[in-house]
Amino acid sequence: MSSEKRELCLSGSGVTKVFGFGDKKTVAVDHVDFDFYTGELISIVGESGSGKTTLVKMLLGLTGVTEGDISFMGQKRDIRTHRKKKEYWKGIQAIFQDPFSSFNIFHKIDSVLLDCINMRGGRRLPKETKIEMMTEACSFVNLKFEELTNKYPFELSGGQMQRLMIARIFLLKPKILLADEPTSMIDACSRATILDMLMDLRRETGMMIIFITHDIGLAYYVSDSVYIMERGRFVEYGSADEVILNPKAEYTKRLLTDVPKIHDPWEFSRNKRYDFRKPPEAADGK
Ligand SMILES: Nc1ncnc2c1ncn2[C@@H]1O[C@H](COP(=O)(O)OP(=O)(O)OP(=O)(O)O)[C@@H](O)[C@H]1O
Ligand SMILES: [Mg+2]
Repeated sequence: MSSEKRELCLSGSGVTKVFGFGDKKTVAVDHVDFDFYTGELISIVGESGSGKTTLVKMLLGLTGVTEGDISFMGQKRDIRTHRKKKEYWKGIQAIFQDPFSSFNIFHKIDSVLLDCINMRGGRRLPKETKIEMMTEACSFVNLKFEELTNKYPFELSGGQMQRLMIARIFLLKPKILLADEPTSMIDACSRATILDMLMDLRRETGMMIIFITHDIGLAYYVSDSVYIMERGRFVEYGSADEVILNPKAEYTKRLLTDVPKIHDPWEFSRNKRYDFRKPPEAADGK
């Protein structure tokens, strides 16, 4: 990426979120600055309560920013009206830890996928084309569209549901995907599959992924850049190699002591970007 001209995709300056006031005040995100570039895979790593989800919600525009500015594609973001917000969401989407939480459980699965097509301006497409698009999206995540039609979200397993979330992203093709601990609630086997699918999708669409995790080892494997978050602040950031093989902040060092073999740089460098970037035939459970 270094030789090409990098396009600034999402940036923030002094971004802050304060909940409550007086004695009950919580500064969840505390004056963070960031510049994320098109196509990058960034991880934000921090312990529980460090402010990761709050930052994600601010980036998405689901919660207000107490102080600071967020810019999207080089322009200060304007999401003051519902219409502008909907426009913004064409470019930025999220998948969350609990896939069921982001769905209206009374909406059938086809309507969830149809909404995505409509959102991308496909409302007037012939029905057959829409079905083709939904079938393709489902097969990308190894689901069978015919088996899903007329089902409700609660009729799917957690892993299937998370794959459906990825099918949504496949249809929406946003510029930015925020993935907030998308694999922490599913078993290890589905977890590898989900990660593989995200990497494939990134390869196909060139979208930027912001991967939120408490797992610094995983962040190392998947990301170009890593931001370490402690109590609402970024205490360290840089390329995955810089931050993880040569950590400077005490907090980063502490996170690394919890990871077995993380101090073995040779082994990490050797394996890095191999497992997750190879073709998907290796993924289990597909
Ligand atoms: N709606 C809210 N009202 C009040 N405080 C909140 C609210 N949402 C989050 N907080 C507080 O903000 C801080 C950051 O929470 P946040 O959920 O962003 O952390 P996190 O890094 O995502 O944690 P986890 O890894 O457990 O998901 C916490 O102290 C939390 O209690
Ligand atoms: Mg969280």
